[in-house]
Amino acid sequence: MKLPDIKILDEKHKILHTKSTEVSFPVDQKTQKLCADMITYLKMSQDEKIAEKYKLRAGMGLAFIQLGIPQRIFVIANEKEDGTFEEYTIINPKIVSQSEELIYVGEGEGCLSVNREVEGIVPRAARINLEYYDFEGNKKTIRAREDLAVAFQHEIDHLNGILFVDRIDPKNPYKDMEKMREL
Ligand code: NI
Repeated sequence: MKLPDIKILDEKHKILHTKSTEVSFPVDQKTQKLCADMITYLKMSQDEKIAEKYKLRAGMGLAFIQLGIPQRIFVIANEKEDGTFEEYTIINPKIVSQSEELIYVGEGEGCLSVNREVEGIVPRAARINLEYYDFEGNKKTIRAREDLAVAFQHEIDHLNGILFVDRIDPKNPYKDMEKMREL
């Protein structure tokens, strides 16, 4: 498999803090191809040997804004226990409901645009219901929980110009930890 030529912007680029705009339909072929390339990139990044060869950091989600394109699209490649991937291309998403229960990633969240160690945790809803659109503009719904729910919320933040580090108070990076469940 050839590594797609994708350049991911680092957090120092201010565009990462801009709000992306809604996508209109149908989505053109070039954009669809880019989504496929982004998913391939994420899958390859999660393969240890490939990651070492190309010096990639493992990632499970990537938003268009991280490539400098301010459109409300992100992709996710979530490796299952059997080694296959669940793949999602999510356009114009909207969280329609979420659990009161909060969770956090114990080892801390990561982001392909944040290339440094970050101390602290990010509160996320344990379960969310999401509405989104496919390439043809058909409305879809999905229910996500646990890791996948965190990934969706992290990527939706990107569409609103928010990085996970923005959600951590450096003076109190483990705030309210006891009120949440660790993943
Ligand atoms: Ni990210």
